[in-house]
Amino acid sequence: MQILETIAQNTGLPVTGHAFDRVLAAIAATADPWEIVDLADQPFNLTVEAVKVLADEGLVRFEDGRVYLTESGQALIRKRGIVPTRLLRCPACGGSGVQLQDLQPAYEIFREIARDRPKPSDEFDQGCLTPLSAMRRVALMKQRGDLVGKRVAILGDDDLMTLAIGLGGQPKEIVTFEIDDRYVQFIRHHAERLEIPCRVYSFDLRQRLPEDLFAQFDTFLTDPPENYAGLFLFLERGFGLLKPGDGQAGYFGMTLTESSLTKWARLQQWLVGEHRVVLTDLVFEHSEYENWDFLLESIRSDVEPYTHFPRVNWYRSSFYRVETLEGFEPDNPSFEGTDIYSDEERLVYSKEVAKRTSNPTERR
Ligand SMILES: [Fe+2]
Repeated sequence: MQILETIAQNTGLPVTGHAFDRVLAAIAATADPWEIVDLADQPFNLTVEAVKVLADEGLVRFEDGRVYLTESGQALIRKRGIVPTRLLRCPACGGSGVQLQDLQPAYEIFREIARDRPKPSDEFDQGCLTPLSAMRRVALMKQRGDLVGKRVAILGDDDLMTLAIGLGGQPKEIVTFEIDDRYVQFIRHHAERLEIPCRVYSFDLRQRLPEDLFAQFDTFLTDPPENYAGLFLFLERGFGLLKPGDGQAGYFGMTLTESSLTKWARLQQWLVGEHRVVLTDLVFEHSEYENWDFLLESIRSDVEPYTHFPRVNWYRSSFYRVETLEGFEPDNPSFEGTDIYSDEERLVYSKEVAKRTSNPTERR
């Protein structure tokens, strides 16, 4: 189909018939452009480019920042046998699979603290979990036996997981690596006040881990940048912090908004193929994120509905848990000089796509 080829060409991403149908089904379900991204479960660039190409072809129209199927769009949907996406996420747990129960008091304290958190910055690819999703991560990790009495390492903490785990997870100790000094100070201040046993280091994870922290932990948690280099670097550092041998756990979030299934597949092959670990949990869209102020500046501005700030939370990540097996060995390589924030699947890259597609001579 010509439309699929156009979207693939303009984004540099593969576009399957299934992916295209998911975008159409999302548009059939809602006129809110951000909900369309949420429901479609595709890379942001793919969804937005699809909306643009569908508009160019007269299959959708834009009105007051919203996206509607035209009559020919409706006809296409009928022809392809598509029904509108229905959101069947469990209302009790928000799709996380856990309830807070005895973590409720910790959640209420955490939610109050999070109100005054430093604002996410685009310098370090920040964007924070809702406090509820943060505490649901604590609940899941606690249930799996990876927090109580454990040494826990956190790699990058704009989500304030040091405080969430400290309040509800009963860890033996938390060690946190964070590049942004605003968060380092904020977390240290509240951790001291709440008597959370933690050390917070101002640290760039491209550097080798300090000898006294290498291979010392039972559990790691991270929300890595999702370009290939950043993703593998953060996870390699996570594994480098774990004790050798079996029974340690690693947790991380990963999206479909900034990562294609090809990236998911490469990640899963790397995890199981290059490390002695097994994937035990993959909770689809476990975690919800708050909208961040610099969103509109960081994305393309040539598709009208995506020039309006979202009214809903729409950015979600799935939550992975891996466990080490017998023979697992942590490693501590150098990653000096690596670009850990960009590639063609990232949100920010959509700006480049817009530049390229608005100038046909540069079109790939
Ligand atoms: Fe549920």
